[in-house]
Amino acid sequence: MKERIELLSKELNDFSSNLLDEIEAKRISWIGKKGAITNLFEEFREVSPEEKRLLGKALNELKNQAEGKIKELKEQAGQLSVSAASEKLDLTRPALSHLKATRHPVSQVIGRITDIFRRVGFSLSVGPEIEDDWHNFSALNFPEEHPARDMQDTFFVSMDPAKALRTHTSSVQVRAMETQGLPIRTLSPGRVFRNEAISSRSHCIFHQVEGLYIDKGVSFADMKQTLLYFAQELFGAEVKIRLRPSYFPFTEPSAEMDVWWGLESESDYRITKGTGWLEILGCGMVDPQVLENNGIDSKEYSGYAFGIGIERIAMNLFGVSDLRWFFENDMRFLRQFK
Ligand code: PHE
Repeated sequence: MKERIELLSKELNDFSSNLLDEIEAKRISWIGKKGAITNLFEEFREVSPEEKRLLGKALNELKNQAEGKIKELKEQAGQLSVSAASEKLDLTRPALSHLKATRHPVSQVIGRITDIFRRVGFSLSVGPEIEDDWHNFSALNFPEEHPARDMQDTFFVSMDPAKALRTHTSSVQVRAMETQGLPIRTLSPGRVFRNEAISSRSHCIFHQVEGLYIDKGVSFADMKQTLLYFAQELFGAEVKIRLRPSYFPFTEPSAEMDVWWGLESESDYRITKGTGWLEILGCGMVDPQVLENNGIDSKEYSGYAFGIGIERIAMNLFGVSDLRWFFENDMRFLRQFK
């Protein structure tokens, strides 16, 4: 046994390699499950006490030596392969250019609008995209037989209880009245959904920014001035706007606001239906019944609300003649908004 220990020790000392595979093979042949040194330990159990005393130490040292050697060689080989790889690096090659992400034009417009209203004290609120009947319709005075409650116009997710993809961000008005103390002055951007035919002017998904202001003594004149301020900040001081009487179940009186788009080209005609004006928002004084529906005393408080269509504004600001571009995720389109 003594000779075999000496022989193995010599083999250990003589061995050298910088190939990881070779080193691993040696490790197995020495201290693997059936390796030579492992076998010696098996045999060692059978030898006489005298021999044990003589050989025990030498055998342990042999094992430590083998383990140390393997570790050392593996480390060297590892470093070698790293430096070999770095020698193959060509540092003179031109770098790949990074694909820089840009904000979607719709998000850019939402950001500009929320900025403008933040400066006059509006906070931000959000609500869910799947809404119940109360928040999307009933609390907002939609009568039972209103066409918007029809499957033809609204995407229902379930019928009993009725849940639908919200058809407007006005649902967040109701949520704000439920949860926020008065006065309320808040803005709610988000996606809305309508079961509509897709064309260059309309889509079944689009974005709105809802505004709601409720306080004592809020008047229609306050609303008009705030919306004029908004239009001037967004489109420039010389922008032309007009308010047309309109109807919404939850505002009284109601209006629609148009901005002047122009009537120069064929696409101007198509986009503005031949009028030159582009409708960008609906607005009005919050109907007293809606305040009462949400536990607000309509004799003490009044308010205004508005809902801005984002895609129309984005088309106007960026000169995009077809609304569908905003939903195609075509990189050739999106890259233009850096
Ligand atoms: N919710 C209305 C729409 O989607 C817009 C609106 C909001 C009108 C707030 C008045 C007040 O058309």
